[in-house]
Amino acid sequence: MDSLWHASVIVLVLVFIGGSDANPAARRHGQLDVNHKKQPLQTSRPYNIAHRGSNGEIPEETAAAYLRAIEEGADFIETDILASEDGHLICFHDVTLENTTDIASRTEFAGRKRTYEVEGVNMTGWFTVDFTLRELKSLRVKQRFSFRDQQYNGKYNILTFDEFILIALHADRVVGIYPEIKNPIFINQQVKWSGGKKFEDKFVETLLKYGYKGKYMSEDWLKKPLFIQSFAPTSLIYISNITNAPKLLLIDDTTVPTQDTNQVRSAVSTTFFFYQVHHPKTPSYQRPFLTCSHTMR
Ligand SMILES: *[C@@H]1O[C@H](CO)[C@@H](O)[C@H](O)[C@H]1NC(C)=O
Ligand SMILES: *[C@@H]1O[C@H](CO)[C@@H](O)[C@H](O)[C@H]1NC(C)=O
Ligand SMILES: *[C@@H]1O[C@H](CO)[C@@H](O)[C@H](O)[C@H]1NC(C)=O
Repeated sequence: MDSLWHASVIVLVLVFIGGSDANPAARRHGQLDVNHKKQPLQTSRPYNIAHRGSNGEIPEETAAAYLRAIEEGADFIETDILASEDGHLICFHDVTLENTTDIASRTEFAGRKRTYEVEGVNMTGWFTVDFTLRELKSLRVKQRFSFRDQQYNGKYNILTFDEFILIALHADRVVGIYPEIKNPIFINQQVKWSGGKKFEDKFVETLLKYGYKGKYMSEDWLKKPLFIQSFAPTSLIYISNITNAPKLLLIDDTTVPTQDTNQVRSAVSTTFFFYQVHHPKTPSYQRPFLTCSHTMR
């Protein structure tokens, strides 16, 4: 009985495939349907967010690290957005390149070391903002910590924001993105875009280009889930004006000041409170959520 039952199921499946094969229009329609019927984002338990990809195993923020995270079941892939000298947006955590790339051994770039003041601290190193995208793409990414798996060092290059988004969009189920707009004050000081555009404008333009928009849990959002995160309150307020996608204000230890307004956590919460009070016309969806920074390794 059992095998008979299986046999009839197989026959039914064959009939179905044969039927649509015989009708190219129906088959095309069927394929469209299949594309629309991607397994949706799960919403029954807390989201599993792959912080910088599967970076314990594969160097952080590389294509391979994100693909592995998706394979491992991540609901969202997380990244940090910085910019190159020529204004391209890249997925990279530090403003300097030495801790996670081979820049220090690249003699052709030895003269490119600089010192800049970043968030009130003088830093010396090779900064992403002093390299074109082409130059950044020639670097090879490595692990940040020696206790991690070192076997993939030197195998992958730096990703662009566009490439990162395409990885999420090409997953065989709905995978959300969780980009942080990184060091926006510093980036806006160092990088100039045409038409007086700011880092935040380029960031949101990229998201909109791929259809990322909509309030949390809206139909648009569920198709392309997105959370925007930043440590800089002014940046989030600016972004609130150009997209209604959900935003998260990141907060470090309670004593660490914000990147831009130089306030501690309690003060920044108050600032947001006042912003809402003094801008009563601001719809609630434009109000950033509050969250805490994670220091995961
Ligand atoms: C690079 O790594 C060193 C040693 O862990 C650390 O002190 C430094 O803060 C790191 N640099 C950046 C830009 O994170
Ligand atoms: C950084 O270095 C410059 C040049 O030496 C100096 O003028 C500035 O005060 C320094 N900034 C900080 C925060 O130490
Ligand atoms: C929001 O956009 C309007 C119109 O472009 C502008 O006048 C206003 O200053 C913006 N607000 C913020 C907080 O950037």
